Amino acid sequence: MRIIFAVSFKRYQKGMSTNKKIMVTAALPYANGPIHIGHLAGCYLPSDIYVRYLRMRGRDVKFVCGSDEHGVPITIKAKKEGITPQDVVDRYNAMMKGAFEEFGISFDHYSRTSSPQHHKNAQEFFKTLMDKGALVAKETQQYFDPEAGQFLADRYITGECPKCHAADAYGDQCESCGTSLNATDLIQPKSTLSGATPELRNTTNWFLPLDELSEDLRAFLESREGWKPNVMGQCMSWLNAGDGLQPRAMTRDLDWGVPVPVEGAEGKVMYVWFDAPIGYISSTQELLPNDWEEYWKGDNAEIVHFIGKDNIVFHCIIFPAMLQQHGEYALPTQVPANEFLNLEGRKLSTSKNWAVWLHEYLQDFPGQQDVLRYALTATMPETKDNDFTWADFQQRNNSELVAGLGNFVNRVMVLTHKYFGGVVQQPNVLTDADREALAAMTQYGRRIAKSIEAFKFREALNEAMNVARLGNKYLQEQEPWKVYKQDPERAGVALFVATQIMGAAAIVFEPFLPSTAAKLRNMLGLSEGFRWEYANEETIIPGGTQLGESTLLFSKIEDEQMEAQRQKLEAAAAANAPQTTTESIKHMPQKEDISFDQFMAMDLRVGTILEAERVPKADRLLKFLVDTGLDQRTIVSGIAEHFSPEEMVGKKVTVLMNLPPRKIRGVESQGMLLMAEDGDGKLRLMSPEGGADSGAIIG
Ligand code: 2FM
Ligand code: ZN
Repeated sequence: MRIIFAVSFKRYQKGMSTNKKIMVTAALPYANGPIHIGHLAGCYLPSDIYVRYLRMRGRDVKFVCGSDEHGVPITIKAKKEGITPQDVVDRYNAMMKGAFEEFGISFDHYSRTSSPQHHKNAQEFFKTLMDKGALVAKETQQYFDPEAGQFLADRYITGECPKCHAADAYGDQCESCGTSLNATDLIQPKSTLSGATPELRNTTNWFLPLDELSEDLRAFLESREGWKPNVMGQCMSWLNAGDGLQPRAMTRDLDWGVPVPVEGAEGKVMYVWFDAPIGYISSTQELLPNDWEEYWKGDNAEIVHFIGKDNIVFHCIIFPAMLQQHGEYALPTQVPANEFLNLEGRKLSTSKNWAVWLHEYLQDFPGQQDVLRYALTATMPETKDNDFTWADFQQRNNSELVAGLGNFVNRVMVLTHKYFGGVVQQPNVLTDADREALAAMTQYGRRIAKSIEAFKFREALNEAMNVARLGNKYLQEQEPWKVYKQDPERAGVALFVATQIMGAAAIVFEPFLPSTAAKLRNMLGLSEGFRWEYANEETIIPGGTQLGESTLLFSKIEDEQMEAQRQKLEAAAAANAPQTTTESIKHMPQKEDISFDQFMAMDLRVGTILEAERVPKADRLLKFLVDTGLDQRTIVSGIAEHFSPEEMVGKKVTVLMNLPPRKIRGVESQGMLLMAEDGDGKLRLMSPEGGADSGAIIG
């Protein structure tokens, strides 16, 4: 029979005492593609960790999200595929909702901005702003694409950013510098529909006069505490910029979106960034039809928006300005924004298919949600952009989860079952080492709580792992497997202490690794109503508890699995790469000027290929031994689809000598072979025609 000792609940009720209603939101993802690891590390994982922690503290928290189903990203996707925008959002809403659920993102409600409730709510909001005179109708000139026969806004138009001069800013925002723009600010604008240079036509739109609202916004921002420096810094730089904030159109001449509920605005829709944040409120209304206001209005409401850094201007300037003008809503308490996650050294990109997709991960690694949660939290781009690599993922699984947490738990379970039939022994005497281990253990809950409350999730996860490290160290020092032969009672005490540490791990890992924590609780017989404060106690699992069966937590990930993932990534990106054509080469603009010194810094020499072979398990790579005149060196090049190893031997090539060595598939490449790409996408060798010898200097 299984005896479960439920730990007395009363003694944990002290904890945080607050009656705040906490509303946590995670950015509504555009329903134009699946969720990838960049989305997860950016805002869904941090928000989920935060909410799971608050729930364990007994806080009154609600967690909402939903699909962002309006805006140009959706209509562009529909046009590309020859389907309707509704088809696009139906497909991706279902896909994202399912993937989030399976991954353990514990939204209380996941809605969509095409819901009738949201349309009604956004229209009421718009009407309130109209009634208060907060939106101003203005006839202005906006860009129009005569070939496509429509006005161009947002992602329908690109051009050079007037602030940072990035080449591909959108009509409403430059993603390179984060600035929000009007399409008419762009330098050399171009229609993304036809490539045509647009013309200006008159049209009426409704504007939020941000220029007049700057001081209210400044007062709001200055009253916020504990905001991340990157978030506050961006906001202040916009407020303090020479030309200050500019009025922003909140309506669009498009046919996909929430219809503008104003006479004279027939055929126009709301700007997607007007309706999307209202979607958080609509989602809460669907969740709590009678009580939603408690979480959004009054001094008792505490609102925390988790977002990625490209969303800062909308959540910290535009949405708060809308809320201030509306007048009935509380303003955000916190907007913890993360930086971007890269993948294998390159920017994640949906359009270039350079991504690890959540739904594919769930298929390729069934039951291993927590491994990805762990790896992503450990590399979360909290203060700067960060890189996810499969090598790091494997290392974290094998060295930290399997050899660390998994090994510790396995030893506690196996030994307690082997020596004591799975019953936790009641200790009579504790040694100093036991007391020290228990005292150290009780410190982690508070420490981790502090980090989570400061939105430092990497630090918090590392501290949680320190609990497992403590457990392993303690077992290693006490060696109950040796002690048992002479002194079974002492072995029982050591296992009692180790079981408490396992109990602390079951508590503190819950926000980060929820399925693993559930398995731990199950093994330990910890009741469902567990609280964070249990981790502060020296006895979490009382003597006499019958432990459950030992469950495998993690298993080793082999090199082959990682290689398969890397190949899949390369193959998908290659299949999606834009084809170079004679026409596209003609339109490729000349790159920016370099200095003469930069040119002279390149060491280019003629080389001769001595040996050539394929790189195992890498379809695109060839490995060469090249005589450079100076030395014989190894160079790896991704040209296997264009040349066979046999035809390369003896060829003269141009070598860039002083590129820093780089490991490619485990082989160190010590330079680069220069190639020319033709209009038909074929690569040609850059060979000296005049028959120069190996080592001849080019330049
Ligand atoms: O950047 C994006 O993916 C947007 N769809 C985020 C919207 S967040 C909110 F305001 F709805
Ligand atoms: Zn810019």
